[in-house]
Amino acid sequence: VTPNIITVDGPSGAGKGTLSLLLADKLGWHILDSGVLYRVLGVAALKHHIALDDELKVAQLARHLDIDFKLNPSSQEVEPVLEGDNLAGLIRTDDAGQAASKVAVIPAAREALLERQREFYRLPGLVADGRDMGTVVFPDAPVKIFLTASAERRAERRYKQLKNKGVDANMRALLDSIKARDERDRTRPVAPLVPANGAFIIDSSELTITEVLTQVLEFSAKSM
Ligand code: C5P
Repeated sequence: VTPNIITVDGPSGAGKGTLSLLLADKLGWHILDSGVLYRVLGVAALKHHIALDDELKVAQLARHLDIDFKLNPSSQEVEPVLEGDNLAGLIRTDDAGQAASKVAVIPAAREALLERQREFYRLPGLVADGRDMGTVVFPDAPVKIFLTASAERRAERRYKQLKNKGVDANMRALLDSIKARDERDRTRPVAPLVPANGAFIIDSSELTITEVLTQVLEFSAKSM
């Protein structure tokens, strides 16, 4: 067992990002948002006009991905930089998410990103957010969380987030997009989205983020 790792896996929009930030803040640990790596890879493929299903080229791109992370001093957010270009503005878009989930089905691309993800582990500890953190990347983590919620609830939350940012959004389109991404993530042959053995499974559909955090902290205290 590698000490002090909490893995947080689950479908998009279940609240993993917020939960991971709160956990890392509370424990004073580092954080890995692994979805960003897949998003950068998807964006890099689009940038270089590589088809998202071209396994050889995408894998090669993943192996040589020139990516850096910069802390934005005003927002305090870590921003990905690809080949010198700051991607902060487009990394969270739905297009980047869809591209990410398409390149994420390629086994050799996942393999290429494995070490990069493990390098995020540092003491005093790491909260690792993704789809396969507990199953593949950190299989010996002492605490594994699987956070889920109904597709409708996840689409609703995303809708509110976008509205609050002043971005025009369409509920039906969001729900379709979430379902398409779920389907790809759940049915891919390598590292599909499934709860790890021994994972604490929480459905956040009817819970506030504070209630989720309380349950996770209780579970972690018993497991570490
Ligand atoms: O978490 P996020 O929405 O940023 O992830 C974008 C996509 O990247 C996911 O839909 C999934 O296909 C892929 N991903 C993955 N494994 C991870 C993290 C993300 O396959 N550990």
